[in-house]
Amino acid sequence: MRHDHLLSAKQLSRGDIEALLDRAAEIAADPGAVAGAHADTLLALCFFEPSTRTKMSFDAAMKRLGGDTVDMGGVESSSVSKGESLADTVRVVEGYADALVLRHPSEGAAKLASEFADLPVINAGDGAGQHPTQTLLDLYTIRENAGLEDLTIGIMGDLKYGRTVHSLAHALTNFEANQHFVSPESLRLPRGVRYDLHEAGANVREHTEVGDVLGSLDVLYVTRIQRERFPDENEYRQVAGEYRIDAALLEAARDDLTVMHPLPRVDEIAADVDETDHATYFEQAHNGVPVRMALLDSLL
Ligand code: NCD
Repeated sequence: MRHDHLLSAKQLSRGDIEALLDRAAEIAADPGAVAGAHADTLLALCFFEPSTRTKMSFDAAMKRLGGDTVDMGGVESSSVSKGESLADTVRVVEGYADALVLRHPSEGAAKLASEFADLPVINAGDGAGQHPTQTLLDLYTIRENAGLEDLTIGIMGDLKYGRTVHSLAHALTNFEANQHFVSPESLRLPRGVRYDLHEAGANVREHTEVGDVLGSLDVLYVTRIQRERFPDENEYRQVAGEYRIDAALLEAARDDLTVMHPLPRVDEIAADVDETDHATYFEQAHNGVPVRMALLDSLL
């Protein structure tokens, strides 16, 4: 990859993506081949927001490459609670590690960090902005299950605040995917994201009912309503629970439909979907390790 930092999916060309996914597939097939490749490398994990998968899979990926991690810990237990600025935290961490993975509630935080840091910064989610490493594992999962050529994908749920959606939609323009966005009116894609997609020549349609497109989809990517980003709890309650899929609804889908979700799920995918052949979200989460190994291997 040509970049020292991974801040946004917009940085990634089709060639970058294909090279990383190919490398991830090689690593998944033979993880032992890279077991000691990055001994003595330290990866800093700075998570200013909750995380299970992203943080643990970066931790696992670095350790499986032979390196180790240093973890800032929760915001409450770090100096952030004493009022330290992000710029200062980053300048300190730079002396402790070789690369930095950052998750932060503010959009643009990773870009800001990259301006102060003399080490590669990886954006692990910046507010409602971007989440490019989730996108890489999403693309890997799509490629394995449905293929990235002639893809018709439905992306459903919180399109306004969902950073995984913003990154994925942009990356899919590299593959000329047909993208159907399904959400309540109040959670449509933000104007800026729609503009960027349009500029990138994306093939986009918007819907309020998943039933209108379900039968034509190769992949249905379901997302959680991002409760923590609603300025008003009442606004959240109006849309909570409205967009939900279950096994009965999926009877109208193609047999080979791949159902994905970045996780965590709340109630937007009923548990009975887990028993169907459509369910791919746990496999998707597992793919985070080889994909992040490939990314670290390329950045370091
Ligand atoms: C996502 C995130 O943090 O944006 N989680 C993840 O990294 N897998 C999705 C979410 O929180 O809904």
